[in-house]
Amino acid sequence: MSSQDLAKTSYNEVATAYDGYAQTPAGIIEAQLIARALGSDLAGLHVLDLGGGSGIHARECIDYGAESVDIVDISPEMLKVAWGIEESLGRKDKIRTFEADVSKPLSEYELPLRESYDVVMANWIFSHADKKSTLEGMFANIGVYLKPRGIFVGIRDANPFSQNFQTGKYGAHVKWVKEIEGGAKYWAVLHCKPELVEFEVSTLEIIYGGSRELYESVGLMEYEEMPLGRAQCVKDDPEFWADFLKDPFLAVVRAVKK
Ligand SMILES: C[S@@+](CC[C@H](N)C(=O)[O-])C[C@H]1O[C@@H](n2cnc3c(N)ncnc32)[C@H](O)[C@@H]1O
Repeated sequence: MSSQDLAKTSYNEVATAYDGYAQTPAGIIEAQLIARALGSDLAGLHVLDLGGGSGIHARECIDYGAESVDIVDISPEMLKVAWGIEESLGRKDKIRTFEADVSKPLSEYELPLRESYDVVMANWIFSHADKKSTLEGMFANIGVYLKPRGIFVGIRDANPFSQNFQTGKYGAHVKWVKEIEGGAKYWAVLHCKPELVEFEVSTLEIIYGGSRELYESVGLMEYEEMPLGRAQCVKDDPEFWADFLKDPFLAVVRAVKK
């Protein structure tokens, strides 16, 4: 099964429970780092959220003032959750959802997307690519839809072999991890409540090793990783976060389109 088909099947199964990830320590620190990367003032801006799933970070963008967020995701069930939350909030026009594989040119789907966006997010989607060509397809869409001087924000794996991924101290652990050509495959267990969420991840060294090659190939410059130590949760409880800072399993990247 391709990593895209696997992602669709797996996330359809876990969709209703996935949103609980936001309450785990890992979910909390990544949200705080994303806020930092976005700049917390998105007044009037339009955001494209590739692989935006149930809309955890899309809703944060709206909270920071974004005019709109378009989520594109391969899992119709994840999108249904995002849409259901919008309905429960009584919102109609802020977040739109579209089903598509973001490793393929989105123009092929003839979706009513904007021609370009002020911000493009890609949070955790590079963890569903076991081939460089899949990543190239994802990055191509980022390059096509991000305006000049627009901001890219993305969460990625930082080390699938991290000790902190073994212990589960930060709200996620791996059941197994093994090397594959050019990277790693692992079984992720997210400590969502009321039930655990589990799925297979494929991540390539070109992503988790911190290479800038794919970013630069689509004109993403000024690459930076948000310093973990600046997250409020770390300032509030440095002792709890000390192990994570030594060997993190996630990184939040910010870059600017040429
Ligand atoms: C770990 S979840 C993260 C969801 C969301 N970005 C967040 O951070 O809350 C990964 C998401 O990427 C989506 N995904 C994986 N591969 C994809 C692809 N090729 N095209 C579109 N969506 C994809 C999955 O369906 C899932 O919703």
